[in-house]
Amino acid sequence: MYNAAERRNFYGRVHGKTLRQSQKTYLNEDLEKLSLPGVRLEDNPARTPLDLARFGGKPLWLEIGFGGGEHLVHMAARYPDVEIIGCEPFVNGIAMLLGKIRAADVTNLGLHPGDVRDLFDVLPAGCLTKVFLNYPDPWPKARHHRRRFVTQEYLVPLARCMAPGTELRVATDIPDYVRQTLEEVPQAGFDLISQTGLGAAWDDWLSTRYEQKALREGRDPHYLTFKRRAG
Ligand SMILES: C[S@@+](CC[C@H](N)C(=O)[O-])C[C@H]1O[C@@H](n2cnc3c(N)ncnc32)[C@H](O)[C@@H]1O
Repeated sequence: MYNAAERRNFYGRVHGKTLRQSQKTYLNEDLEKLSLPGVRLEDNPARTPLDLARFGGKPLWLEIGFGGGEHLVHMAARYPDVEIIGCEPFVNGIAMLLGKIRAADVTNLGLHPGDVRDLFDVLPAGCLTKVFLNYPDPWPKARHHRRRFVTQEYLVPLARCMAPGTELRVATDIPDYVRQTLEEVPQAGFDLISQTGLGAAWDDWLSTRYEQKALREGRDPHYLTFKRRAG
């Protein structure tokens, strides 16, 4: 298994609880065939852009940090004419996703079991037409805010990969994350389209594990939608 932490300054968890036997089977049997070739540095040290022909010209979406994969599988099932790439370095989450893919029998998904920055290196400019960032790691301590996804280190490469006029959705339960998102995302070439809260998520939203945890613990969701500016 590729370990994102070996290559980038990745601070999140890569391994969690011991995997169940069924999850080990999913990883052994399904991960390789769903993983996009040419994303890992060791497979493509020259960082040659990916050939997206395998997606047959369909719209290409990305979910960053899919956690247990419930939103990713929901979107794939709801939009069969779209191809969705899911990116997540946490092995237990990847195994959960693989189980859900088997159960839902969806085929319009590709994976990168690692850091999303690996993907940004090799995705052709403007190839993504929707991106989901659901409950990114909050890094609550002020000295860790620069580890957040909503920093120029992540946002500028993301903006390069997105087509003008396309949508970036951010969901978070942390008011200070909303503050930083509103400051940083426009600097990277996006315009805020809408900002809503509890009970006013996107029409096709499926609540995630982290959102359920936040609600149980009394924190309200915030939903922000940005549009990639032209140029
Ligand atoms: C708080 S969890 C939210 C998971 C899920 N989106 C949800 O709403 O339940 C944040 C997830 O982002 C993943 N993550 C953190 N940094 C990442 C990176 N650089 N690339 C891809 N995923 C990342 C973490 O492994 C973690 O699973």
